[in-house]
Amino acid sequence: MNRSWKNLGEFLQFLESKGELVRVSSEVDPRLEMAEMALRSVRTGGPALLFERPKGGSMPVAMNVFGTEQRTAWALGAESLSEPRQRIEGLLRLKPPGGLGEILSDLPAALENLQNLRALGPKRVSRAACQEVVKEGGNLDELPIITCWPKDGGPTITFPLVITKNPETGQQNAGIYRLQRYGKDTLGMHWQVHRVGAENYRRYARRKEEMPVAIVIGADPTTVFSALAPVPEGISKFAFSGLLQGRSVELVPCRTVDLEVPAEAEIVIEGTVTPGELHVEGPFGDHTGYYSLPEEFPVMHVRCVTHRKNPVYLTTVTGKPPTEDAVLGMAVTDLFLPVIRMVLPEVVDMALPMEGLFINVGVISIHKSFPQHARKVMHALWGLGQLMFVRYLIVVDHDVDPHDMREVLYRVGLQADPQEDLTIVEGPVDQLSISNRVENVGGKLGIDATKKWPEEAYPRPWPEETKMDPEVVRRVDELLGSLPPLKKALSPRR
Ligand SMILES: Cc1cc2nc3c(=O)[nH]c(=O)nc-3n(C[C@H](O)[C@H](O)[C@H](O)COP(=O)(O)O)c2cc1C
Repeated sequence: MNRSWKNLGEFLQFLESKGELVRVSSEVDPRLEMAEMALRSVRTGGPALLFERPKGGSMPVAMNVFGTEQRTAWALGAESLSEPRQRIEGLLRLKPPGGLGEILSDLPAALENLQNLRALGPKRVSRAACQEVVKEGGNLDELPIITCWPKDGGPTITFPLVITKNPETGQQNAGIYRLQRYGKDTLGMHWQVHRVGAENYRRYARRKEEMPVAIVIGADPTTVFSALAPVPEGISKFAFSGLLQGRSVELVPCRTVDLEVPAEAEIVIEGTVTPGELHVEGPFGDHTGYYSLPEEFPVMHVRCVTHRKNPVYLTTVTGKPPTEDAVLGMAVTDLFLPVIRMVLPEVVDMALPMEGLFINVGVISIHKSFPQHARKVMHALWGLGQLMFVRYLIVVDHDVDPHDMREVLYRVGLQADPQEDLTIVEGPVDQLSISNRVENVGGKLGIDATKKWPEEAYPRPWPEETKMDPEVVRRVDELLGSLPPLKKALSPRR
């Protein structure tokens, strides 16, 4: 499959045709009931849900749209995640050229890549589906904003693309940051300190200027995915989305603020944030499975709400994994491996297990080629974008599968000496982390579980791993071929 989705509606239709979307025609309460139903669906590998009659609401609510790896791949216009990963690999052209001759012979391909990049950048349009209905002033009470957990501070927009701009360069950004509804025209901007939205806010604060913000609810699924992906700052998320889907994202100017939003979006909330105006946000049942504590965040004042004639409200519920955002996190890890390999070619594979919330525990396999190589990789990863948040980083040799936790524990227990092979550092940690004594700052542990070398002050000979003689393996295979019941009995069980 190699296709793109014009908008969310088109993707939902596709999911329905595949039997992967179920319409819920009974009345369901956006307060807790939808979250509970969506959680049950994601935890059983169930379908996307379209709540057609939200209690007190005027528009249908879509949940668990990305809730399986297959649906996430489809959302990116592919049958499996390997397709977009290959697209990213192609764009990065991982192999560094060997010399002038190779550069020249690759020049046409490089130029074609450049042309493609330019052609797939966002395009501006003047008329847009997302502005079929324009409501000056806007009234958030008309939206079916859900409450996920009983002790949440209030109804929260959980899956919005928050569009902000760098006032110095004009570069726009889209990030997924939840927004608590305070009143019919105010929202809490939960952009954590390390996010681009927060950095843009600090830039406006330094200039003492009002910050324009646009909230997009329900864009085409590739653009939604791009907004949550750790795309390096400076690369537009819309351009990234265009590259992933092989089609430019169309943007339309907002009605009341100087920002552009995806023309095919379902709902757009336009408004401004005044630097220095803060309000308590939370508690909120977070990705951690705990309620994040109430904390002050900036406030957005709504100026206008625009939407399609028949919009769908896209939302999600966070909590202890497995959840929809955990499925998305797995896809992000998979897709961004080529980006990591571009900076660290010695990296073979990486696992950020969902139980570790993607930022608490990481395992990385490397081609070790010099003493203390594992430590070099740890420090490099702690300096690489959102990987700075990983609290426990385990490095294993190239022949160990980092996704096989049994094998990883075997290697850690056997090959890492707690006196010699641990590296403890201090640095920035995720704002949602709870074990650190000071918010946003904490310790990180690197475990070098690679085989030790003499140059690493390992004075003894490293023992040889037991491996059966290949000739004996072949002979036993042959023997078992003539003994089917025994062969079956000796086959690996699921
Ligand atoms: C469902 C969902 C909810 C999220 N909520 C928040 C949030 O409330 N605040 C936040 O800072 N990041 C949140 N994130 C993570 C960011 O979207 C993610 O780190 C993204 O890469 C940030 O983009 P940026 O680097 O452009 O700021 C959420 C992600 C998902 C998938």
